[in-house]
Formats: sequence, structure tokens, C-alpha cells
Amino acid sequence: MRLELLTGATPCPGISSFEVAAPGQIGFRRHAFERGCSSSSRSEEFLGLRALAAEGGPDLSVTVNGLRLPNPFVIGSGPPGTNYTVMKRAFDEGWGAVIAKTMSLDATKVVNVTPRYARMRVGSGPKDVFGWENIELISDRPFETMVAELRQLKQEYPDRILIASIMEEYNKSAWEEIIECVEDAGVDALEINFSCPHGMPERRMGAAVGQDCELLQEVCEWINAKATVPVWAKMTPNITDITQPAQTSLRAGCEGISAINTIMSVMGINLETLRPEPCVEGYSTPGGYSSKAVRPIALAKVMSIAQMMKSEFPGQDLSLSGIGGIETGDHAAEFILLGANTVQVCTGVMVHGYSHVKSLCAELQAFMTKHNFTSIEDFRGLSLQYFTTHSDLVRRQQEAIKKKHAIRKGLASDKDWTGEGFVKETETMVSN
Ligand SMILES: Cc1cc2nc3c(=O)[nH]c(=O)nc-3n(C[C@H](O)[C@H](O)[C@H](O)COP(=O)(O)O)c2cc1C
Repeated sequence: MRLELLTGATPCPGISSFEVAAPGQIGFRRHAFERGCSSSSRSEEFLGLRALAAEGGPDLSVTVNGLRLPNPFVIGSGPPGTNYTVMKRAFDEGWGAVIAKTMSLDATKVVNVTPRYARMRVGSGPKDVFGWENIELISDRPFETMVAELRQLKQEYPDRILIASIMEEYNKSAWEEIIECVEDAGVDALEINFSCPHGMPERRMGAAVGQDCELLQEVCEWINAKATVPVWAKMTPNITDITQPAQTSLRAGCEGISAINTIMSVMGINLETLRPEPCVEGYSTPGGYSSKAVRPIALAKVMSIAQMMKSEFPGQDLSLSGIGGIETGDHAAEFILLGANTVQVCTGVMVHGYSHVKSLCAELQAFMTKHNFTSIEDFRGLSLQYFTTHSDLVRRQQEAIKKKHAIRKGLASDKDWTGEGFVKETETMVSN
């Protein structure tokens, strides 16, 4: 494995002017589907997107919190949702939904550095990325520009699902203001970034809230009192028990959980310069780890959140969005088997590009065909039943060994007789 430094993301092309849109129609929470479904173009476009998946293949569409997605593949918040141009590209390529890069009201407080990425590779090819560290902050683009771009996208793609990722300081009126602005732009849902591991906690934002259940409950209550569209709370894995903030968020009215954001990391030390990577003017700061390397950790977190949701919130219309190292349809299938309704891809898009959604859909359909699953709900959460405690594993194994011994009673064949154990061997075949 080797470490490699990357320069920062390409500059965001600005969108200079927008038509003034009619104020976004804001439907009642949990009824967004009725709002979005009214146009006839919706079903036509859906049919078009269905063609992305193999003709006549299993149905990849999902409905979460009243929102209908043509497939479960969602652009995760980060560089792939950083401006109008790239989000438009994602819709055009057929992604099930897009979550924009996290934004806050005052972008002037967000100052990024370059280089801000470092990657771990398993080979020399550009796609041989195994782990990815970033020290990138939330969007440094003006809030008004981001909102105008979201509005423009919803005007052009009224039937596609666009989600705003937002983050604010510990201030109720700031949260109310940001929610009002992005809802007015017409977004279908909100993802709350309670999980950014670097930079923002210094301002009591992001992971600083997600790691403190008392603070989290208060902020979720502010958000849910204001929001009229579904709210997903994005969790940090940098905590002992991720089910606690997930449960707190759902109890405080959120409709969904997204997990996971990046894992706190130090990519490595350059053994020539003795400086840490990514290196900015000779110094670094711990960052967030993503890509394939984090997938087993993400699967464990998603599994435990799904178990908690099943036991604490049975039968409720809540959703779970799995994130972390997803790069193939099979990876997506694993998250869905553990209870995820949708899956998000961030680093995978940075490595494979937007058209990768076509392979993701085809691979997921191939998996479904192999097992005769006709819809995502056919297998969602199916593998959760195979998790148990370690002591139960021991009990099951002891029982299995006993059974095996019972079956092996007596010699299997005459060639197995030995001179040494002849009497004992005879005993194993006597019935009284
Ligand atoms: C460069 C970079 C920037 C990111 N920025 C954000 C962000 O602004 N907001 C957010 O909620 N998550 C952000 N993330 C986290 C991703 O959305 C995702 O949770 C994480 O990277 C794990 O998924 P992945 O392995 O598919 O990348 C970022 C990730 C990367 C790699």
C-alpha cells in the first residue's frame, strides 16, 4: 500500500444568473410523494430511468418517507454534489437522488486548504484507491449561490429527489433561517450534518452535536419544529455507541438516519520529511477516512442502527441510508440486506465518475435476479436475523458438534477398524 497526496478539488464554476422561481411548494411532512407525484411527466421520466436498469429486470425503485426514487443509489454529500453542474450531471446519469454538499448560512467562515486529500492505494492504477482521507470543510461557496442552484435544479428536474445537507451553529434562529431558505428553494428533504469530524466541531457544529445526545436532542427538536419536509440525521461513527444518537434523533422527530460519515484518521507520516499527510505548509490535522477501507465498519454501524430501529420504532415509516465504501452493486446489496432503504456513494463517484451508477444498477439487478428477488423490499433487512451474541454462537456450535458426534456414532466403513482401539470401536456399534 502506498500513500499519495492529491491536490484539492477543482474550483467550483459559479452560476452567474438565475430566473426568479416561484416560491417552492412545500408539502406536509411525510406527504412529499403526493406533492412530487402530481405531474404526469413524473411517470414518463420514471419509465425512462427504469430503462437504466436491465429491461424487464427486477424493480430497483424505492419509496422512503414518501419520496420515490428510481433506484436506491444516492449521491452522498461532498464534492460530487458541490454545484449545479455536477448535480445536474448526476441526475442526467440516472442517480436515484442527490444530496448536495453541506452548506451553512455564512460561508465566509469556511476556509479550505489545499492539498486537502490523501489516499491509500493497493496498486498503481488511479482506481486502486482503498482508503481516502480528507480535511475538507463544508461548502465554502456563498449560501445564496447554493440556494439559487438548488432552486434551478428543482425547476429543471421537478420529479427528481434533491436533498439539502445543512449544518449550523448552536443557535435556534440560525437553524430556522437555513431550513426556511432551502425549503423555499424546493428541496425534497433535509439531511442534517451532525457528523463532520474536522473543522466544524471547533464551532460547536457537526460532530460536536452528533456526539452529545443532550445537545443533539435540543437541536433536532428545533429542526423538526420548523421543517416541513422529511429530515434525515447523518451520524458520526466517531462515538462509542452510534445507536444512541440515532435513537435520540428519531425520538426528536427525524424521519431518517444516514450512516456513516467519515472516520477520524491520520493517513500517515512521510518518512522522508517526517511530516503528516495531507501536508499543508509542513503541518496537518486529523481528517475523515472514507472509501473501501471503511465499508466493514460502516456495515457494522448500519447493522446496529437497523436492529435498534426494528426494536424501538417497529412499523414506523422511518428510513435508513447506508454509506461507506460502496462501489459496486454487491456492496449496495450488503447494506440493503442489513436494513438500508437507500445507499449513498461519495468517494466512489470521485474515483469512478457519475456514469458509474449504470454499473451499480446492473450489478444490483444481477444479484436480485440470482436470488429471485423482484424488489428491494424483498430482501431489505433479510440478513439481520443472522446476527446474535457471542455466547449464542458458542451454544449453537456446541449443539452442532453434539449432533455431528451422534451422526458419526459407529465406524463409517470396515476399513476404519484399528487393532489398537478395537474393543472401543466395537462398543460404539452396540445398541444395548
Ligand atoms: C472529500 C469529501 C468531502 C465530504 N464532505 C462532506 C460534507 O460536506 N457533508 C457530509 O455530510 N459528508 C461529507 N463527506 C462524507 C461522505 O458523504 C460520506 O459520508 C463518507 O465519505 C463515506 O462514504 P464514501 O466511502 O462513499 O465516501 C465528505 C467525504 C469526502 C471524501
